Amino acid sequence: MSDVDAIVISAIEEFGRITDADELERVKARFLGKSGSLTALLKTLGTLAPDARREAGARINAAKDRIEAALDQRRDALANAALDARLAVEALDVSLPGRGRGLGGIHPVIRTWQRIESIFNSIGFDVADGPEIETDWYNFTALNNPENHPARSMQDTFYVEGSDAGGLPLLLRTHTSPMQVRYACQHQPPIKVIAPGRTYRVDSDATHSPMFHQVEGLWIDENVSFADLKGVYTDFLRKFFETDALQVRFRPSYFPFTEPSAEIDMMFASGPQKGRWLEISGAGQVHPAVVRNFGLDPERYIGFAFGSGLERLSMLRYGIDDLRLFFDGDLRFLQQFR
Ligand code: PHE
Repeated sequence: MSDVDAIVISAIEEFGRITDADELERVKARFLGKSGSLTALLKTLGTLAPDARREAGARINAAKDRIEAALDQRRDALANAALDARLAVEALDVSLPGRGRGLGGIHPVIRTWQRIESIFNSIGFDVADGPEIETDWYNFTALNNPENHPARSMQDTFYVEGSDAGGLPLLLRTHTSPMQVRYACQHQPPIKVIAPGRTYRVDSDATHSPMFHQVEGLWIDENVSFADLKGVYTDFLRKFFETDALQVRFRPSYFPFTEPSAEIDMMFASGPQKGRWLEISGAGQVHPAVVRNFGLDPERYIGFAFGSGLERLSMLRYGIDDLRLFFDGDLRFLQQFR
């Protein structure tokens, strides 16, 4: 075997052993570099006779080509191996289930709230918002419910430490009715408003929660009668429950801030609640003493008010039998309203 073949064989062997790309370039120099073994052979050509020189030159060039081909092959192999190693480390398991982003939904009580706003908006009622921490004056006294009046015990509540600027006790409002006074004191008749919001009482069972929602309605003008209350409220219920086959009845009741007062009952003509009177709202003609607290003359201004529970309306609309479901935060329940 000639020198040239020996050099080619040892180059191929050495390249094959190398696993590092930088080292491969260094080893390449040992064969093809300025002082490499193949280069050394080339330098000997000058000492040969022309014929022998041509023949040796051709063989050396062929050897150089083979070494370069082997080098290229090894370079590619090393580059591929490096890529494979990186892919293995950075592997992405596309079969893993994705991390889903849960879709939010509107709480059923808030759905009811929004529905009520849009129905009353469509018949010209404004929507007002008021504080949940109220003064004793707005929650009770201004509503014709004087201190020590037994009717106050119908609505026991949570008292808040401290007092308002006028030294009045603070409490969590037991109903949305204080909004009647707040709104009427700031607007001129005709006053036509609803005020939905959170309310609080010391109460807790399947049909009562210490925090719940009400919507107050108030319409005051020179000639608003009990007949208007019947018309507006009946119409509201029929729109809310999407049926005209619903019956409504006004049953005499008592509230300090209305006279006469009524409990509004309704009855479905079909469905699981069919044929049963269901209590749905308190209502009445606003008491003259309350109209006076609005800053208006009760000889001139008259009208009605109502207060309805949003949980109650939601339970009837969706057929829910336990009020506590609204506040447990159980997704199995809530997801049904998405
Ligand atoms: N505020 C009363 C309650 O919570 C309901 C009501 C409102 C009654 C307006 C009459 C008029 O029980």
